[in-house]
Amino acid sequence: MTDRTIDPELNRRALDSAYALLDKALMHYRGKPVGTVAARDPNAPAAANYEECFVRDFAVSGFAYLADGKTEIVANFLEVALQLLDQELEMEGQEIEPGVMPASFGVVHDADGESLRADFGDRAIGRVAPVDAMMWWMILAHAYVQRTGDRKLSNKAVCMQHMERVLRLCLKGSFEVFPTLLVPDGSFMIDRRMGVYGHPLEIQALFYAALHTAGELFAPSEQNQPLLRQAAQRQQRLRDYVRSQYWLDVDRLSEIHRFATEEFGRRNSNPLNIYPESMPPWVESWLPEQGGYLAGNLGPGRLDARFFAFGNLFSIIFGLASEEQAQGVMDLYEARWDDLVGAMPVKLCYPAVEGAEWRLLTGSDPKNAPWSYHNGGNWPVGLWMFVAAALITRRRELAERALTIAAAALPVQGWPEYYDGRAGRMIGRRANLNQTWSAAAFIFAHRLLEEPELLAMFPGQAAACPVQPGYEAGEG
Ligand code: GLC
Repeated sequence: MTDRTIDPELNRRALDSAYALLDKALMHYRGKPVGTVAARDPNAPAAANYEECFVRDFAVSGFAYLADGKTEIVANFLEVALQLLDQELEMEGQEIEPGVMPASFGVVHDADGESLRADFGDRAIGRVAPVDAMMWWMILAHAYVQRTGDRKLSNKAVCMQHMERVLRLCLKGSFEVFPTLLVPDGSFMIDRRMGVYGHPLEIQALFYAALHTAGELFAPSEQNQPLLRQAAQRQQRLRDYVRSQYWLDVDRLSEIHRFATEEFGRRNSNPLNIYPESMPPWVESWLPEQGGYLAGNLGPGRLDARFFAFGNLFSIIFGLASEEQAQGVMDLYEARWDDLVGAMPVKLCYPAVEGAEWRLLTGSDPKNAPWSYHNGGNWPVGLWMFVAAALITRRRELAERALTIAAAALPVQGWPEYYDGRAGRMIGRRANLNQTWSAAAFIFAHRLLEEPELLAMFPGQAAACPVQPGYEAGEG
C-alpha cells in the first residue's frame, strides 16, 4: 500500500477549496438558505437541472453541515422539502402517490417574487421516479435529530404525517412475495436506464435505513402502533433475506454453481430458480479467496452479479450487511483496489456493460458508455461512504488512503462530478466541474476521520465508532 499518510498541507488546501465551493452552491429561498445546487459549473452545466437542489445530493451537504454544527440550513431544507409536497402532484394524468418526494427543486423568480418548483420525475430526463428521495429525507431527519437532540421539528404534525405516508406507501400490499422493495429502472442515484429495475441493492439499503429511522423518530401512539410493528417486521425480514440471498463469495458461488433448478415448493436451496449458467464468467476469476459482496439485484431467475459500490457501502453504514459481510466487502476493496478505487474513490459499478449487453441494458445510452458515468465511472461522492464504511469496519488505513488520493486530485481538477476509464483516471467526458456533492463528500469524509463519533448520526450506528488516534490532517 502506498500514499497512506495524509499530507496536512495538501489536505488543508483541498478543504479550503471544498468549503469555498459548498458556500458558492448555497441556494436561498425568501432570504433563507434552504439547500445547495447540484453544480456550479463555470461553463454552463450539461443539463438545466444541475441548477436545482437534489434531495439525494443535499443529503451529503447536510451531513457536512451537521458535522460542522451548521444545523439551521438542514432544518430549513427538511421543512422546505415538505412544503413541496403540497404542489400539484399529477403527471400524465396520473396522481403521484402521497409520500413521494421530488428528486430536485429550484427557486423560480417570477412577477410574484419567488416560488419553489419541484421535479417529481415529471420534468426529469427519462421521466424516472425518484424513489430514494423520501428515504434520504428520513435519513437526514434522523441525522439532524441525532446531532441536535432537537425533536421539535420531527415531532411537527407535518413531519409525522409525511413519515407515516412514506411508511404506508412502502409497506402497502403489492403483487410481491419478497421483503425487498420493487422499483422501476433509474429510481435512485443511477437515474438512467441501466438494468437496475426490480430490487436494486442501493434501494434496499436505503429502505432498510428508512424503516429503522421510522422506529426511532415516531413517537409511538396507539394509533401508529400497528404501522410501526409492520415496519419493524419488514426491516427484520429484509435484513435476513438480503444477507442470505444477495451475498456472493467463493463459497456461495460454488453453491450457485451446483444449484438444483426447477424446484417447486416451499423448501429448496434455490428459491429464485437462478440458473448456474447465468453467472457471468468474470465473477469466478475476480472474487478473491477472502472477501465478497452483496450482488446488485435479485429477482425471479435473476441475480445481477455487478458490484455496486453505493449499495454495498450503505449496507455497511446502515447495518443491513452482517459484521462478517461488512468485513468481507472491505477485504474485497483491499484485494481489488485497482478495480474498485483506482485513481479516484470510488468505482460506481463494476464491471461496465459493453456491446450487446450495453445496448440492451442502457438502451444504447452514450452517456453511459462502457467505463463512463453510471456504467463503470468513478464518483468522488462515494468518498464519504467509503470512509464511513472503512471506519465502521476498523480499516482506518483504507479510509486515509482513499482521502489522500482524493485530496491530491479533486481541487486541482476542479471537483468533477465523475471520472471515466477502467482506473478512473480521466475526468468524465460529460462531467460537470464544481460538482457540489464531490466537495461536500470530501468535507464530510475528512470530518468523519477527525471525529468518528459522527457516525452515530446514521440509523444503526448509534453506538458510535471508537475514536482511533493518529489523524492529524486537520491541523494545517
Ligand atoms: C445525476 C446523477 C444523480 C444526481 C444528479 C445531480 O443525474 O445520476 O444521482 O443526483 O446528477 O447531481
